Amino acid sequence: MLKKSLFVSALLVTIVVRLWAQEHYNEKYRPQFHFSPQINWTNDPCGLVYAFEQYHLFFQHNPFANVWGHMSWGHAVSPDLVHWRQLPVAIAEDNKAAIFTGSSVVDTNNTSGLCALPQHGCIVSIYTGFTAKAATTPERQTENLAFSQDGRIWTKYPGNPVLDLGRTDTRDPKVFWYAPGKRWIMVIVLANDKKIRIFSSPDLKHWQALSDFGPQGATGGVWECPDLYRLPVAGAPAKMRWILKIGLNPGHVSGGSGEQYFIGQFDGIRFTNEGASSETHWLDYGRDCYCALTFNDEPAGRPRQMIAWMNNWEYAGVVPTTPWRGAMTLPRSLTLAEADGSLTLLQRPVDELRSLRGEAFEYEGASEAEVNRKLADWPHRSQTFEIEAELRTGTAKEIVWKLLQGEHDETLVGFDAVKSELFLDRSKCANAHFSSAFPSKTVAPLKLGSEPLRLHIFVDRSSVEVFAQNGRIAMTNLVFPKPDSTAISLSASGQLNNMHFSMWKLASAWKAQEK
Ligand code: FRU
Repeated sequence: MLKKSLFVSALLVTIVVRLWAQEHYNEKYRPQFHFSPQINWTNDPCGLVYAFEQYHLFFQHNPFANVWGHMSWGHAVSPDLVHWRQLPVAIAEDNKAAIFTGSSVVDTNNTSGLCALPQHGCIVSIYTGFTAKAATTPERQTENLAFSQDGRIWTKYPGNPVLDLGRTDTRDPKVFWYAPGKRWIMVIVLANDKKIRIFSSPDLKHWQALSDFGPQGATGGVWECPDLYRLPVAGAPAKMRWILKIGLNPGHVSGGSGEQYFIGQFDGIRFTNEGASSETHWLDYGRDCYCALTFNDEPAGRPRQMIAWMNNWEYAGVVPTTPWRGAMTLPRSLTLAEADGSLTLLQRPVDELRSLRGEAFEYEGASEAEVNRKLADWPHRSQTFEIEAELRTGTAKEIVWKLLQGEHDETLVGFDAVKSELFLDRSKCANAHFSSAFPSKTVAPLKLGSEPLRLHIFVDRSSVEVFAQNGRIAMTNLVFPKPDSTAISLSASGQLNNMHFSMWKLASAWKAQEK
C-alpha cells in the first residue's frame, strides 16, 4: 500500500515537473536559443569567463523587478554557449553600492592572494560599484573585486574599492592577463569625456594608470563597456591586431545605443588606432546590440567569442515582454579579414548552434514563384529558424525576404542593389508602436562587386540577427510579431540569377536541457 502511494506521488511529481518545463521559457516572445533571465530585468552581459570547465555569463540584473534598478550580477552557466542554466545571483547590491558592469578572470597563479587553494586558482570579478549621493557621501563610481573559489559563491573583497578616481563616470572595467608584460591590464571608460583609461596591476588590487585613448571615432554619446583584445587576421594568423571596442550611448549610426571598434596595436601601455581618428567602424548595424563583451580564459584553440545585450537604451525599459525584460545576442566568434586592403571584424554565430537544427528546407534555382510555392507548402515553419542563402542578384534591383509574415505583420531582410545596401525593416511587425523610437529600417553599406550575396539569418521569436558576407556585416534587431506569423516569402524586383537557399527549424535550447 505504502509502496503504491509512493509510486503515485512520484508519478504526479514527474508529471507536474514535465508540465512546468513545457511552459517554462515558453511565454509570448520568449527567446528559445538566446539567453534571457527566467524573470525580471537584464541589461549588459558582465564577467564573461570560461572557468572550472564551464562558460560563465553574468548579467546586469534587477532580481526584484522587470525594470532597471537594484543592479546585481545575475549568473548562468553553460557547457557550450547555447544551453544555459541560471544560478542564484552571484554578486548582489548591498547598502554601499549597486553592482554595475565589469569582467572576470581566472587568477591561475593566485597573484591576488585571494585563492584559498593556490594550485586550483580562483575566479576574480572586477565590477563598478555605483554609490548614489547620500547625506554625507557624494555620488561615486569605483572599481571593486569579488572572488569565488568554486564558480558558485562570490565574496566581496574587504579592501574595496581597488580604484577610486573620485569621479561619477568611471566604469565597466575589462581586465585581462597581458602575458608579454606578465601583469593584469584593465580598461575603463571616463564615460563623459569619451575616453578610455588603461591601467596595469601585478595583483588585481593595486592599479597604476598607463595611458588614455580618445575621443576618436564616434563621440555622439557617452562611452561605456570597453573591451580590448587581440585577433588573428583570417588566412594570415601571424598578422595579429588589437581591437578596442567601445559602447556609445546614444549616437549609434542606426540610433540610440550601439557599438564601435578601432583596429590597431597595443604595446602593453598604449593603444594606437591604425585608422583615421575620424573613421568609425560599426560593430553591428542593427539597433539591438549593446555592451558586446568577449570571454576571458577561453579553452585553447577556441576563437575569441562575444555576447552582447540585445536591446537599445532608447526603449529597453518598455519592450513588451513579461515576466522578463532583456536578452543576450547569439554568441559570436570573432576574427579579422582583409578586404580591399583594409581590415574588418568578422562575426560568426558559434558552431554549437548547429546542434539545434531540425527539419531542413532546401532550394536551388532562380524562380521566385517556385521557391515561394515550396515555402508556402513547407509544414515546419515556425518562429525559430535559421537561413543560409547565397544568391547572384542578376538584374534584380531589390531582393527582399519577408519573414515572420502574418496579417498586417512582416519583417523584411533585403538587399538594395541600386544603393548597395543591406537592410532590415521591422516597422511593419505587428507590435512596433509601444515606443515611438522602435519602428525602424536599419541599413548597412554593402558593395558586392563580383561576390554573390551571402546571408546567414537567425530568427528567434522576437529577434532577427543577420550576418552578411561571412559576418563582415552584422545587423541585430528585436521584432514583436504575432505568435502565429510564420510565413516566409521572397520578392525580387527583376530576375535573379541563381540562388541556393537552406533553412532549418531550430529546437529550443531550454527544452533540450530540461529533458
Ligand atoms: C551600459 C551601462 C554601463 C553600466 C550599466 C549599468 O549599458 O550603462 O555603463 O555599468 O549599464 O547597469
